[in-house]
Amino acid sequence: MCGIVGYIGNKKAAPIVLDGLKKLEYRGYDSCGIASCCTGIQIKKGVGKIEEVEKIHTLADIEGNLAIGHTRWATHGGVTDENAHPHSDCSGKICIVHNGIIENYESLKQDLTSKGHKFKSDTDTEIIAHLIEEYNKGDLKEAIFQALKKVEGAYALGIISSDEPDKLFAARKESPLIIGVGEGEGFIASDVPAIVNHTKKVMYLQNERVAVITKDDIEVFDLEGNKKKPIIREILWDAALIEKQGYDHFMLKEINEQPKAIEETINGRIKGDKVDLSEEIKLTDEEIKKISNIVIVACGTSWHAGLVGEFMLEELARVPVEVEYASEFRYRNPVLGKNSLIIAISQSGETADTLAAIKEAKAKGCRIISICNVMASSIARESDSVVLTHAGPEIGVASTKAFTSQLIVLYLITLYFGKIRGILDDFIVKCRIRDLRQLPLFMRAVLEDTEKIKDIAETYYNTSNSLYLGRGIEYPIALEGALKLKEISYIHAEGYPAAEMKHGPIALIDKNMPVVVVATQDNITYNKVLSNIEEVKARGGIIITVATKGDKVIASKSDTVIYIPKTSYILSPVLAVVPLQLLAYYIALKRGCNVDKPRNLAKSVTVE
Ligand code: G6P
Repeated sequence: MCGIVGYIGNKKAAPIVLDGLKKLEYRGYDSCGIASCCTGIQIKKGVGKIEEVEKIHTLADIEGNLAIGHTRWATHGGVTDENAHPHSDCSGKICIVHNGIIENYESLKQDLTSKGHKFKSDTDTEIIAHLIEEYNKGDLKEAIFQALKKVEGAYALGIISSDEPDKLFAARKESPLIIGVGEGEGFIASDVPAIVNHTKKVMYLQNERVAVITKDDIEVFDLEGNKKKPIIREILWDAALIEKQGYDHFMLKEINEQPKAIEETINGRIKGDKVDLSEEIKLTDEEIKKISNIVIVACGTSWHAGLVGEFMLEELARVPVEVEYASEFRYRNPVLGKNSLIIAISQSGETADTLAAIKEAKAKGCRIISICNVMASSIARESDSVVLTHAGPEIGVASTKAFTSQLIVLYLITLYFGKIRGILDDFIVKCRIRDLRQLPLFMRAVLEDTEKIKDIAETYYNTSNSLYLGRGIEYPIALEGALKLKEISYIHAEGYPAAEMKHGPIALIDKNMPVVVVATQDNITYNKVLSNIEEVKARGGIIITVATKGDKVIASKSDTVIYIPKTSYILSPVLAVVPLQLLAYYIALKRGCNVDKPRNLAKSVTVE
């Protein structure tokens, strides 16, 4: 949801900023721009993906050792050259890039207009440049403090001024921003991939803080001007992880990284035959026993992980669980008690809706555990405890390896809680752990056998509608399969509980309608799903099933079957989702879609 990058040092700044922006393009890609400070401020910007804008405007050609850049996902103001960032004040001396939303921008704009400020764009961002100009009496830092005190909403800002060409200013409230510390150089960025090639020393700027970065120093202040101590951390990432490493797309690479991601996520959390999350979850056994209910809050794919988690936790730990869209949770005055536990799931750890839901629950006195893929992200920091997914950086906009890693963490939490709450005995936990340990191997088998999936993509890529069905723990996988397809191929896809089909979606079925059914195990509803398949067939629909290896019954009823190895029913979603990710990928590829950067989407949605 917009990416920002900034550089100050001895090198030419624009190429470094441009390179960083390319690494952040997953955050937004409708327009982009760079401003550099040399003899004055020079701005180059335009509509399109970075590659396109670069060709027209030669973004890297601007001189100067201080620059800021932006890749945009439009919120206020259409996708136009004028609305692309950076934005400047009336004098053209102060220049800013912004990620977030300024909620009171209309009243601020009116006020500034009445004072003679002239606006060039329709964005909420531009008012910040003018507001700083209004307060600037020769000390830009002071003016930034004053301006930010007037602003309501969320911001991550990079600010430069030709009057102070040896300083890169940064500020943050809610939207993410990191500062990179190099030898004789400093960076700002919305996310680690933008700067990890240059430095592994970073500082996560806290809320309502302003940083003044020179090539040799960082100073951090609150909005009252009080100096704060910068805390520098070392990033453990390998820069190679954010390269495609021979794959055509990040999404395909990340799908294939799943066995490793789940291994990493399991690692260190099983001691002997027991799951041990005590150091991460930080709840005593007594507190875990007292949990009255769990509310899982999340968005998008993480919400689907939550639905699987609901099934796991209710089945094996016998705790009542509700799963809420984070965006809805905070506006419906949820009933929470002092023993309610909130589990927030977020790959990025920056999703604004999930962050807001956490704050709502915190205000009601609940304890928050988050499941995040990014250590020190906003959601991780707001939570009482964090259980990290160790999926490694996920760049493709459509989430894959983060999702399966989230399922693993939810399973581990389930076994941990189930044992402490006296629902699972040692033997059952041991058996469940054995099932878990087999998963990476099984998943590799699914990934090695993709010919069938490519054939299905070849046959059905021209379809305009599709239905995904599943029951029980497989229903969220139907939802996730449908989401993957629509996200990256733009084919309309609906996920439905199989038995609900007869209450509406069945009206859509005809000979052109592929219906993907996830039915991997013989559980209590398996036979009923077979009946649902018959209902589709009776209406001429095309049946594609994801089934357990050796299931000949389902094969006789399907047009095509994708087999996955047999695992326990409760873990089947981790395997069943993989063919659906691949199916969406190959269909999108056949349709010529930009798989890693699907239209209108952004990886990290930092606005509500
Ligand atoms: C965006 C992404 C989705 C993601 C959702 C939640 O919509 O495009 O892939 O599932 O945000 O993101 P989070 O980082 O909170 O898991």
